Amino acid sequence: MTEQVKVAVVYHSGYGHTEVLAQAVAAGVENAGGVAQTISVTDLENLDWDVLAQADAIIFGSPTYMGSVSAQFKAFMDASSKVWMEQGWKDKLAAGFTNSASHSGDKLNTLIQLSVYAAQQSMNWVSLGLMPGNNSSQGSPEDLNRIGSYLGAMAQSNADEGAEVTPPQTDRDTAEALGARVAVAAKRWQQ
Ligand SMILES: Cc1cc2nc3c(=O)[nH]c(=O)nc-3n(C[C@H](O)[C@H](O)[C@H](O)COP(=O)(O)O)c2cc1C
Repeated sequence: MTEQVKVAVVYHSGYGHTEVLAQAVAAGVENAGGVAQTISVTDLENLDWDVLAQADAIIFGSPTYMGSVSAQFKAFMDASSKVWMEQGWKDKLAAGFTNSASHSGDKLNTLIQLSVYAAQQSMNWVSLGLMPGNNSSQGSPEDLNRIGSYLGAMAQSNADEGAEVTPPQTDRDTAEALGARVAVAAKRWQQ
């Protein structure tokens, strides 16, 4: 009998919008039969590195600040250079999500940063795996993957609204789909 896969969701969120996505990613993992644990990088000194060491997959999430990962998320990346020295996450699966106020907001750069980071850790990057929505006359902003990302899950949160309202449900559902995809991939990878 195979064990349930363990997926850690490591994220930063300054104002709660990326946090609701982290929760949606975790829900997707659990719906697909995995065990999810969310870890905020805000309290870096007390971060539980063991959870990451035990995980089959790690999904990274950061808001896009100034066209890149937030300073807090970068601090986590730099702190993990100790793991890199030992290649402690080698062959685990990785994936990523980001969120910003603008529909573009240059957030592709954040996913690129996360994927390069995963490669430096010798992890295997899992893409979003959804066709783009909202890109034809038949499309709608309610479509899954409405922003049309491939590398990871993207969300857009109106700058003047709180996390209870924005990002919209479709972006939360897109994040959930990423969590489910990674859990299913980790199960396959475990065999
Ligand atoms: C310092 C800072 C820089 C930001 N830079 C960008 C940006 O480059 N592009 C963008 O679209 N939104 C930008 N935003 C907006 C945030 O991405 C957006 O408010 C997001 O929902 C914040 O997520 P959080 O609540 O998880 O922190 C920025 C916000 C802050 C505070």
